[in-house]
Amino acid sequence: MTKPIRKAVLPVAGLGTRVLPGTKMVPKELLNVVDRPILAYTVAEARAAGIEHFVFVTGRGKQAIEDYFDHHVELEAQLAAKGKTGQLDELLAELPRPGEMSFVRQMQPLGLGHAVWCARDVVGDEPFAVLLPDDIVDGETSCLKQLVDAFGQTGGNLVAVEEVPHQETRKYGVIDPAGRDGRLISMKGMVEKPSPDQAPSNLAIIGRYILQPEIFDLLSAQEKGAGGEIQLTDSMAKLMTRQPFHAYAYDGVRYDCGDKIGLLRANVALALKRPDLGAAARRAIEDLLG
Ligand code: G1P
Repeated sequence: MTKPIRKAVLPVAGLGTRVLPGTKMVPKELLNVVDRPILAYTVAEARAAGIEHFVFVTGRGKQAIEDYFDHHVELEAQLAAKGKTGQLDELLAELPRPGEMSFVRQMQPLGLGHAVWCARDVVGDEPFAVLLPDDIVDGETSCLKQLVDAFGQTGGNLVAVEEVPHQETRKYGVIDPAGRDGRLISMKGMVEKPSPDQAPSNLAIIGRYILQPEIFDLLSAQEKGAGGEIQLTDSMAKLMTRQPFHAYAYDGVRYDCGDKIGLLRANVALALKRPDLGAAARRAIEDLLG
């Protein structure tokens, strides 16, 4: 029997340098895609996978994230007074139940492995999910739900992967596949940000993980890897020698919202899909394209 995945860690301390200058004062996770912050999509994906508790790993200048998930008393009162119940309901639907979210500070930008390690006390001794909010993953079934379903069969640890162009391997953690059964891939190893000539494959780890709590013991060694950072991939590669570890080729489309063009693509694609906005979005885009 595997324990259920109840908690998710969301590292949100990054500075968003690829989408400056807008992210100088606004956390990149709060940039709007269509009409809600990137983070709202991540939380919705996690909820659809059964996540009950969210652990945000934040840093300086990120307080607005905590405020987004709380009541805005003045705004709510004004919407109620003006009878804008649709907008009010939508706003309230984004809120967590009290106590469902925790916030821990990373304090120093030492890498993704360090950010995840900062959540260790809140996660405790149970398997958990990690979602990197840079990526919005759109699909029929929530990407994390696909991992959770696969976890029901495999137990152990899982990472979501997708094929990327070979010349882009140095942007990702890349797996060394050993075999494949449908979407489930067994692995011999994984390496963080390899150059194309060193990469064991073009199967890149995207920002969705299910990990066993033993990862925290490995992360506590605080060893530096690629780019001089404490890398999650390095500790996962070690955990793989001791526990079951699979990759899962998820079904869906990923938008890298930590990148200017990725963010634009997400806005266009998700606006076109919206029942209430799709037709108007299409007209506007066609008009622009002349
Ligand atoms: C991080 C991880 C990397 C993963 C990527 C997915 O890198 O370290 O293994 O492939 O996220 O987006 P970052 O994008 O923070 O450089």
